[in-house]
Amino acid sequence: MSKVTVVGAGAVGASCAEYIAIKNFASEVVLVDIKEGLAEGKAMDLMQTATLNGFDTKITGVTGDYSKTANSQVAVITSGIPRKPGMTREELVGVNAGIVKSVVDNLVKYSPNVIIVVVSNPMDTMAYLTQKISGLPSNRVIGMGGALDSARFRYRLAEALEVPASDVDGMVIAAHSDTGMLPLISRATYRGIAVTEFLSEEKVNYVIEETKVGGATLTKLLGTSAWYAPGAAVSTLVQSIVCDQKKLIPCSVMLNGEYGQSDICLGAPVIIGKDGVEQIIDLQLEGAEAEKFAASAAAVREVNKDLKL
Ligand code: 2OP
Repeated sequence: MSKVTVVGAGAVGASCAEYIAIKNFASEVVLVDIKEGLAEGKAMDLMQTATLNGFDTKITGVTGDYSKTANSQVAVITSGIPRKPGMTREELVGVNAGIVKSVVDNLVKYSPNVIIVVVSNPMDTMAYLTQKISGLPSNRVIGMGGALDSARFRYRLAEALEVPASDVDGMVIAAHSDTGMLPLISRATYRGIAVTEFLSEEKVNYVIEETKVGGATLTKLLGTSAWYAPGAAVSTLVQSIVCDQKKLIPCSVMLNGEYGQSDICLGAPVIIGKDGVEQIIDLQLEGAEAEKFAASAAAVREVNKDLKL
């Protein structure tokens, strides 16, 4: 019996619910929203795709009734305002911190052993807030940024190499922000061969820069933030937990000395299984990559100060 709660029935939350259902690994998804009828409506619409898409997951929607989320194995928080074109994720901190706090209180009240996946922005700071206020052990709070940013990195690498994205591997670590993201180009590969063997310096720089502003590019095109890839990234994380897949997925986790950082949630490669964060891979970064990771951490610490914990 695997029950997953998704809080926020906006575009990102609905996309999370849809991908989780389509992948057919959870028995139940509960969609929660504060807007009367929205979660119920989206849940019903999604359930009417069950016979068309061939899934057995039961999706229900509720307006603010967290008792229906009781005993969730995983809860995804997408609540809060999305960014508008020209905004940074960090500008959302004040409003979204208040929203995330009340959601976390409600989730933990009904599911004391839940694993929380944080999507709301600024994601690293919201994961840190969730960690601080939930009382959950640090393996039970995961920010999803790196999973999404790594998918965007692979998309840009595949585009530059003119090969299928599934033949390309690469990870993005550090902060989920336009300036703080660290696409690990030195370790990105095309079927095991360093991508730098195929790409000019100019193309490498293009890939890095386009990856970092991946969310902003979409926000400009769409007028609000993206939802398909965020939803798919979340479903990958949730599946690795529910099915105990032990996948290596970059995501934002509480660091305790790894990468020279402590008391901060930041993106790192993590083995994700039934206990949530099962192992943090502490890569020994060098040169510019080590400097960029440290600068990214310093910027996130500045945003974290706005939480006034
Ligand atoms: C993004 O990058 C929603 O922050 C998310 O699209």
